[in-house]
Amino acid sequence: MSQLATERVLHVHHWNDTLFSFRTTRDPGLRFRNGHFVMLGLPVEGKPLMRAYSVASANHDEHLEFFSIKVSNGPLTSRLQHLQPGDEVIVGRKPVGSLVLDDLRPGRHLYLLSTGTGLAPFISIIQDPDTYERFDKVVLIHGVRQVSELAYASFIEQQLPNNEYIGEMVRDKLIYYPTVTREPFRNQGRLTEILESGRLFRDTGLPSLDPALDRAMICGSAAMLADSCKLLDARGFRISPRQGELGDYVIERAFVEK
Ligand code: A2P
Repeated sequence: MSQLATERVLHVHHWNDTLFSFRTTRDPGLRFRNGHFVMLGLPVEGKPLMRAYSVASANHDEHLEFFSIKVSNGPLTSRLQHLQPGDEVIVGRKPVGSLVLDDLRPGRHLYLLSTGTGLAPFISIIQDPDTYERFDKVVLIHGVRQVSELAYASFIEQQLPNNEYIGEMVRDKLIYYPTVTREPFRNQGRLTEILESGRLFRDTGLPSLDPALDRAMICGSAAMLADSCKLLDARGFRISPRQGELGDYVIERAFVEK
């Protein structure tokens, strides 16, 4: 069997000039864990041009969803941003990745730290009932430059709490904390700053970070990952050393610059 499947675009949503999401059909044989990524692309000059994309939909959904930046001179996203329903995309058959709940030690509070399109895997993870079965509180932080980049905000705040299957768990356990760095907003500053200053804990009423009880998953740019890891390491958190081994936190690079 080919390593690549062809899927059809079902729906496209443009959040602003630089960000969009799209849904595709899903091969029923494609199995993945929430938080995984797949290779995704288009045929360019007769060859598949593929990049890594986190799956934003949950593994119980019939469709696949992806969240992407638009880079005007990006080899893939300059083309991908023009997708229309009915168009075809190529999806790899081997989902992989380290942002999986199974690699976290049991804990009390789960922190999902994301910037930009690093939010995508967490959109999948917050739709997973297992997330709420394992943790008392799930804190989703999304750091962006501008308010218009707070993609999925109404999905998280309006739709998910009313979901007929997991709405009650979401209402009880999910804390969404969007933060903006380059224009006025109710929460301002880099996520590393709001953790460092304790502002997040004052605003949410949660106790400050404790490696004995708290767990984290991190997805963002290389610089954001480096700074977030430094912050957690300084507090005694241990990273999962490799896939399949337990840690206090796991990381994945957001696959920007496409
Ligand atoms: P800032 O505006 O202060 O650079 P980007 O689009 O560059 O990936 O940034 C997305 C968001 O992540 C922005 O709010 C940005 O803040 C923030 N950010 C950038 N670098 C870091 C970092 N090293 N640690 C935490 N947040 C970061």
